[in-house]
Amino acid sequence: MLNRRTALKTVAAAGAVALFPWERITGSSAPKAYASATADPAPIIPFAHAMPVPKVLAPVSSTPASQTYELRMREAQTEIVKGLTSTVRTYGGCFPGPTIRAAQGREVVIRQINQLSVDTAVHLHGGHVPSAHDGLPMDTIAPGAERTYRYPNEQRAASLWYHDHAHHLEAENVYLGLHGLYLLYDSYERSLPLPSGAYDVPLVIRDARVEVDGTLRYTRPSDCPHMLVNGKERPYFKVAARKYRLRVYNACANRYLKLRFADGAEFTQIATDGGLLERPVKRTELVMLGGERVEIVVDFSRYGPGASVVLENAGAQPSERPEVMRFDVGAVTADQSYVPTLLAPEPDPLPSPTVQRDFELRTFPAMTINGLTYDPDRVDVTARLGATEVWTIRNVDVPAEPGKPDFHLWHSFHTHLTYFRVLERNGAPAGVRDAGLKDTVALGPGESVRIAMTWGPYPGQYVYHCHQLGHSSGGQMGRVDVVA
Ligand code: C2O
Ligand code: CU
Repeated sequence: MLNRRTALKTVAAAGAVALFPWERITGSSAPKAYASATADPAPIIPFAHAMPVPKVLAPVSSTPASQTYELRMREAQTEIVKGLTSTVRTYGGCFPGPTIRAAQGREVVIRQINQLSVDTAVHLHGGHVPSAHDGLPMDTIAPGAERTYRYPNEQRAASLWYHDHAHHLEAENVYLGLHGLYLLYDSYERSLPLPSGAYDVPLVIRDARVEVDGTLRYTRPSDCPHMLVNGKERPYFKVAARKYRLRVYNACANRYLKLRFADGAEFTQIATDGGLLERPVKRTELVMLGGERVEIVVDFSRYGPGASVVLENAGAQPSERPEVMRFDVGAVTADQSYVPTLLAPEPDPLPSPTVQRDFELRTFPAMTINGLTYDPDRVDVTARLGATEVWTIRNVDVPAEPGKPDFHLWHSFHTHLTYFRVLERNGAPAGVRDAGLKDTVALGPGESVRIAMTWGPYPGQYVYHCHQLGHSSGGQMGRVDVVA
């Protein structure tokens, strides 16, 4: 059997990678093809499921300095659409994976055992980890093998996630279930009066196609009519009439979301990819591409007990149902929580950048960055450890014809190892949507952003890529080597 690296070179040598744009990738070798949809999707019956909250994984051992976990990647059966059984790829049998709760200053060690029939690599998205533990695309775990990852947790509190990153396979692996939450806490954040405990709830939102026989089919987003929150199709969630902290994840492989409450209600954003914003901001809509996280505080006491409010995706296609989930409001509950006007200390000013770089993201004729698909043996960027750089990123794809799905013309830019700040969007100073420390920034067709990051805290090999995972699987990724 060819190993992945050899297979990649063979495909690249044959020119196959360069010839096939994302929507038309076919063939049995990499990049992984979309399976064509052979059966109808299961009918959509919104609000048939209560929304579960992913269970928190218990460590197998702990010391004050470290917590050790064990996860088996394996197939499991789950009910995504009421009454149907779907086979999924899981961490530990859970869909999505179990949540890991980590504390700043306490190392997390995870033994990952691959009992699937495909290669995997586990990446901690948003984690600042040494290269050997980053889950790089070629640094895979073969079926039957295992790997122990160590996460130092020397960064501040943030909503991270772990997910598959095996080259060419990540989109399908993540879509079929290989993703879970990693919530990092610190004592500063814990001291804030924000809603906590049962009132701090993650919403892992993603699209899917579940066919009439229950098959979860990896295919293009325009053929994925189901919308899952925490693994269930369009669930309802019973809330008390009080404030909640909602950690919203766009875990779609290939789709943007425009989330809002059906009544247009305002909510308060408190955090983003890299943790708390300096100050809360009022918003009514969240535009999010895969990989992005936004944390909001919603006060359900504005609705009386017995009322309901639907969270909608205004980015749904005309043929799709906009509902994402429904909140059913129960009794008024004592609520001492509030959102302080100052959430986090102002960040240190960025050191002046020493390097500027430009990147162009393109869908046709292939998924490229600056005209190239990912080659693990080619160093695209060499960055100095500790240097601050400014990167200009352009989505050069032109807007789609009106009415046509344009998911494939959206790109994002995600950096491993470090967070960045968005300085500008489309030539204007970055606004509310791009505030705070980010690791993934979304670019609609024709958009551009300027971002600034300081490379570190570790030297070594890392990647940056589009987080539309069908795109990164197709090669829209580059290698950055951070050198001391
Ligand atoms: Cu969430 Cu390199 O990815
Ligand atoms: Cu892309």
